[in-house]
Amino acid sequence: MSEASSPSSAASGTATPRVFSGIQPTAGSFHLGNYLGALRQWIAMQDTHEAFYCVVDMHAITVAYDPAALRVRSRVSAAQLLAMGLDQDRSTLFLQSHVPEHAELAWVLGSLTGFGEAGRMTQFKDKSAKQGTSGTTVGLFTYPVLQAADILLYSPEPGEGERDLRVPVGEDQRQHLELTRTLAQRFNHRFGDTFVVPEAHIPAGAAKITDLQDPTAKMSKSASSPQGIVDVLEDPGPMRKKIMRAVTDTGTDVRYDEENKAGVTNLLRIFSALEGTPVADLEGRYAGTGYGQFKKDLAQVVLDTFTPIRERTHKLLADEQELDRLLAQGADRASQVAARTMEIVRDRVGFVGRGR
Ligand code: TYM
Repeated sequence: MSEASSPSSAASGTATPRVFSGIQPTAGSFHLGNYLGALRQWIAMQDTHEAFYCVVDMHAITVAYDPAALRVRSRVSAAQLLAMGLDQDRSTLFLQSHVPEHAELAWVLGSLTGFGEAGRMTQFKDKSAKQGTSGTTVGLFTYPVLQAADILLYSPEPGEGERDLRVPVGEDQRQHLELTRTLAQRFNHRFGDTFVVPEAHIPAGAAKITDLQDPTAKMSKSASSPQGIVDVLEDPGPMRKKIMRAVTDTGTDVRYDEENKAGVTNLLRIFSALEGTPVADLEGRYAGTGYGQFKKDLAQVVLDTFTPIRERTHKLLADEQELDRLLAQGADRASQVAARTMEIVRDRVGFVGRGR
């Protein structure tokens, strides 16, 4: 029998749809794939949802890292998100380590996750294959369970009317989202309706931006060559050069053809997403012009998008105290929701409530 009182908001019967997402502070800058696959959706969804966005610094320590660099990168990550348009008045931006309930719920969910189930996660398999057994941590293995905890902590409470929880991510997070859904269902089945089964929100055209030098591989922080990645905070000169030198194909026509023209197709996707122009219109615009003009114009569109973000990021980083104050504000708001969820979870799983 449950000891927790019924949630206070249950009576209202209404709930704003929620959104939660996270990003790792594992590099000195986010990249174009992060921006198009996820972050642009984060910005847009703060107007339609009650939004919680998290810089997942606890996930970042599951692989080898330098503590001083992590501290810098966490702040740089938060500053970039604010510079892109996240607004602490319209959404809640915070650092994962400021809300310890993330780790607490991960422990509970980890106790519901099969060893084999966690071992089937392809990101774990890829990363652990790269690190070797001695370099692979238990934290890397349970990484997706912490991710599930991140999301489910912000589940609207049972009884809050129509409950909706969206997670804007790129294609590479689909399997982790599936695990999160499975764990939510398993918890509910075992302990009673607690979590909303979240929905991934994956953008149609930009779910997987590929490497500029190897268009068959995902654009990624761990890419083998920096020439393949466009960083949000990159200086204009190198940024333009990388796009001009992006691998295309023999031939000259600017045409969307995933199989035979993977490089041009990736550039068309980027162009289309950034400018908001359908791919077919771009094909028409660049019919007969060759790759040169197409790349030159694309470089300009990328620069026009990222230059103001870079400038705002540097301004925000110049006032560290104010940045930390904003993050504390976000942590306070996130903590309220997280604490309430954990109160329900502790009760459901059979922990004795702490006497007063
Ligand atoms: P991370 O930090 O690797 O990436 C952040 C977001 O960027 C998306 N992304 C891409 N999208 C399109 N093309 C690409 N080349 C590309 N590269 C990255 C990712 O899909 C992601 O949405 N495990 C997560 C972080 C996380 C999280 C969460 C996400 C932790 N907890 C809870 C959502 C909800 C990750 O490593 O993302």
